[in-house]
Amino acid sequence: MEDMRTKSIGVFDSGLGGLTVLKEISKVLPNENIVYFGDTARVPYGTRSSETVTKYTYQSINFLLEKDIKAIVIACNTASARSLEKAQERYNIPIIGVIKPGAKRAVISTRNNKIGVIGTEGTVFSKAYEMEIHKLVSTIDVYSKPCSLFVPIVEEGWADTEVALLTAKDYLSAFNGTDIDTLVLGCTHYPILAGTIKKITGNKIKLVNPAEETALDLKKLLEEKNLINNQTQKPDYKYFVSDMPERFMNIGQNFIQKPFDNISVVEIQKY
Ligand code: DGL
Repeated sequence: MEDMRTKSIGVFDSGLGGLTVLKEISKVLPNENIVYFGDTARVPYGTRSSETVTKYTYQSINFLLEKDIKAIVIACNTASARSLEKAQERYNIPIIGVIKPGAKRAVISTRNNKIGVIGTEGTVFSKAYEMEIHKLVSTIDVYSKPCSLFVPIVEEGWADTEVALLTAKDYLSAFNGTDIDTLVLGCTHYPILAGTIKKITGNKIKLVNPAEETALDLKKLLEEKNLINNQTQKPDYKYFVSDMPERFMNIGQNFIQKPFDNISVVEIQKY
């Protein structure tokens, strides 16, 4: 009989941001094989409509389903916000996103019940973090701010520059007077900016990276379904992108310190 445990985990994002999620998964589940898809031809998702993001999400999942996988992680806040529930209803495979885990971690973190959320326009306007936080504790005050320039700043390799600091100062001034003690980095790229953001928020505000809790939730899910891979050999990582593999590899190096020795281009529109 086929051993489900040795199958791969499918991880996808609008581009390379999901590598921050892959990084956390590889720490928590070091024996798992991973197939990563980055939709680099159609990034960003953050400024697109819910219908479009859902269509792209389905295409990414359809592609991953061909790759002998046992579970899927939507490693993109925007796609999780817009399409997780629809995808869970549509497909007969375990699928998790990053919003629920991020919301859970934020609720555990806050002491004064005031949480800030930053993300793309799509994520913030969907109110997905608010909804998930309020499902856990309905009395928490949630303040959100889209930070659209953070993604290009990170992709330009400018995360630790004066430009990033000034931009972050401007965006984060939205939280002045709110007294938040927790800030959710609700976009895959933002953990790369954590050092810069911390310079502004200081130690009083705890930064939450949803990818960390997502990796733990994935582990729990695989344990429950008896799907943990116990292989002792080096796990296999395969990367697929829909455009510009060289750019993905160059910039991706800022996200994970692993070589991309197995990368291919896929025509995602076909799926
Ligand atoms: N990966 C996206 C997210 O986490 C950011 C980039 C985009 O807008 O597609 O929301």
